[in-house]
Amino acid sequence: MKPDDLPSSARAGLPPDAAWSALIDAASAPYRPKSRWAYHWARGKLGRDPVFRGLLERGDIGAGRRIVDIGCGQGLVAALMQACATLQQQGRWPAAWQPAASATAYTGVELMPKDVARAEAALAALPLAPRFVCGDMCATPFPACDVVVILDVLHYVPHAAQDAVLARVRDALAPSAGRLLLRVGDADDASGFAWSQWVDRIVTWARGHRVPPTFGRPLREWQATLEQLGFTVRAVPQSQGTPFANVLLVAELPAQEGTPA
Ligand SMILES: C[S@@+](CC[C@H](N)C(=O)[O-])C[C@H]1O[C@@H](n2cnc3c(N)ncnc32)[C@H](O)[C@@H]1O
Repeated sequence: MKPDDLPSSARAGLPPDAAWSALIDAASAPYRPKSRWAYHWARGKLGRDPVFRGLLERGDIGAGRRIVDIGCGQGLVAALMQACATLQQQGRWPAAWQPAASATAYTGVELMPKDVARAEAALAALPLAPRFVCGDMCATPFPACDVVVILDVLHYVPHAAQDAVLARVRDALAPSAGRLLLRVGDADDASGFAWSQWVDRIVTWARGHRVPPTFGRPLREWQATLEQLGFTVRAVPQSQGTPFANVLLVAELPAQEGTPA
């Protein structure tokens, strides 16, 4: 049965909380047969970190997008995109949210081989066929895309390297619909930023990684850097219910002459 064949009560979709719960179940399920650890990590992260649900509620990703996810970890965004496709096909996408996010292609770039192995084991066979590249974002080529997602990653490299990654992100994005979803900490919010750094260090260590130094910036500097690259930037606070100083920057490239808006 197609969604349009459903009675109008069903077309209204699930209530938002039920939909989010169904999406967490569906996005974490592929990890379960491969690794209990990866399964529980997926459930915990999707359940506790407000960024993922917010992206869907606000329609930040959009439909039919080619997504590049830099510092993708075990590929939660790919798992979530597949779960979104299923919910949409079932006619259960909540009417209260923006239209369903969907991906036509997904490439994850991740430094840590263990994370890439977990992502590939659980997700490579999904219909979305996500591709994972094990490499340093400072050197790995980014494919042409419509949306780049960078959640809590850029501060692992020095400022000059951050600028170089952002310039290459701009070049990879389609000029008419290119959008960067960049979550950063605001170094001007001293206590929230310190909390983020502590948690980052503990999580990095617990995941068996070397604990690297981190390179933060005040929010206004992040915004200015993106604006200099030609992006229009909107800041979405991400700290509700958390002690952190996180902000999601939704950065868009203007349509260029001759490209469809
Ligand atoms: C805090 S985690 C965030 C993971 C994922 N974006 C999420 O939100 O679930 C940061 C990730 O960035 C990766 N990372 C750090 N430096 C990197 C680099 N130079 N190139 C690629 N990935 C990197 C880490 O290995 C880690 O998986």
